[in-house]
Amino acid sequence: MQPAPEKLVSQALEAAKSAYAPYSRFRVGAALVAASGRVYTSANVENASYPCGICAERAAVASAVAAGETRFTAIAVAGIGEGGVAADCTPCGLCRQTLREFAAPDNFRIYVAASESTWREFTLAELLPESFG
Ligand code: THU
Repeated sequence: MQPAPEKLVSQALEAAKSAYAPYSRFRVGAALVAASGRVYTSANVENASYPCGICAERAAVASAVAAGETRFTAIAVAGIGEGGVAADCTPCGLCRQTLREFAAPDNFRIYVAASESTWREFTLAELLPESFG
């Protein structure tokens, strides 16, 4: 069964607290739901060599795949900047394509935190139309 969006968004907000983001000071948390029902959380991990940084979403995918999961059904993402929750923290292009590898674009749900208790909802197909897979 799919976890409730409010629960996933709150897991993403919690995960953002573990971000290593000393360069951007923008903390991102992700809560990724596998077909097994298990939820994998992660956060962005930056580096002094900026391109080495990894987004929260791809870190969550790596963690889930390492645990043996290769099908995903939903993700919640929460970005927290100096002014609080950033409503526009939709997954970047690299993360959208990474998710596409393991998801059915029309069914995969993306919940983007808009505040501590609200979110916007998209499908992967909406954010990555005509995708390659
Ligand atoms: N970031 C994510 O982790 N996920 C997103 O959806 C957008 C951006 C990270 C990358 C970088 O560490 C910081 O946010 C600022 O771009």
